[in-house]
Amino acid sequence: MKDIQKIRADFPILNEKVNGKPLVYFDNAATSQKPQVVIDAIVDYYSKINANIHRGVHTLSQVATDAYEQARLKVQKHFNANKSYEIILTAGTTHSINIVATGFTDILKAGDEIIVSALEHHSNIVPWQMLCERTGAVLKVIPFNEEGELQMDVYDSLLSDKTKLVFSNHISNALGTINPVQEIIDKAHAVGAAVLIDGAQACPHIKPDVQAMGVDFYVASAHKLCGPTGVGVLYGKEEWLNKLPPYQGGGEMIETVTFEKTTYAGLPHKFEAGTPNIAGGIAFGVALDYMNAIGFDEIAAYEDELLQYGTEKLLEIDGIKIYGTSENKAAVISFNLEGVHPFDVGSILDKLGVAVRTGHHCAQPIMNYYDIPGTVRASFAFYNTKEEIDVFIEAVKKAKMMLS
Ligand code: ALA
Repeated sequence: MKDIQKIRADFPILNEKVNGKPLVYFDNAATSQKPQVVIDAIVDYYSKINANIHRGVHTLSQVATDAYEQARLKVQKHFNANKSYEIILTAGTTHSINIVATGFTDILKAGDEIIVSALEHHSNIVPWQMLCERTGAVLKVIPFNEEGELQMDVYDSLLSDKTKLVFSNHISNALGTINPVQEIIDKAHAVGAAVLIDGAQACPHIKPDVQAMGVDFYVASAHKLCGPTGVGVLYGKEEWLNKLPPYQGGGEMIETVTFEKTTYAGLPHKFEAGTPNIAGGIAFGVALDYMNAIGFDEIAAYEDELLQYGTEKLLEIDGIKIYGTSENKAAVISFNLEGVHPFDVGSILDKLGVAVRTGHHCAQPIMNYYDIPGTVRASFAFYNTKEEIDVFIEAVKKAKMMLS
């Protein structure tokens, strides 16, 4: 990565010590760190323009509204949505998925089929199970193989004219597999089904083009993209968003209200009841500007170097098993040390200043497949370095020495 030290200097937290050791932050798949420009955007909003949006004639309300709507335009441009009102600003990926899952309640009927990949985060399993309970629709699952790749021949056999919806993540949070989403979308459309792609883990690494993909819904969270928590995006094709009912009733999502009848606002406001995370939305736009200035091609190429380096070094340690070995993989290494519980490895790494996630990563079906309680997951971002990977490798060796 060009100017890696300059990039690292943008992230104040990277100078912190944890447990007396310099922080090595390898939990980027859980949430990314924030550059100073994003932190400043939040402070500036509350220091200079704090006011509620879409409501007041007073100057600050208009300035805040303009800043928030500018952020929506940045999100539209980033995802290449056709219309700005196809971008719904939500509280995060889970919220976005639930808007769609709830919206299909009156569209599906008993016996309709929903296909979901077996590589999903719980947030892309549970809302569809709840939808099936409400409607009598049936959930079908695309299995994966030992490498952590979806078995697309089984997907072919699951598709039929009963299939109404298909869901997959773009990249698996637990294994890092980059899924063949274009094939998933095209084949679903061929049988008339709608597709939602969960981009929560893909968006830090890949810039998705929703029009080129032809996808019906695409969802993501700001906090994995150097933005704040509590903000996310639901992209939906205009015709789908018009078909779905509002998710929540409240202020801002109405056109007229009487006790006899309420009419709803148009897009995007129909799905944006209540006062949103205004500072967060504005800061999300700043985060996208920041990452686009570095460039997603550059980010992906550099993270791939880190992934290759980290994988090679880790495999030099006896007793390491890596879960998720697809050729198409993002910068996530999920692994275990033979005979050692992942929690114990993670705790020792933490004492040495290395932050990783341990456990089932909200993807219990994946852990059940491998018959393990969980993994240790190291996930890299564009501000990490090979030197940090060396520190991590020494820490894993130390954990092995202490625990085996
Ligand atoms: N989905 C996030 C993760 O994978 C929280 O850690």
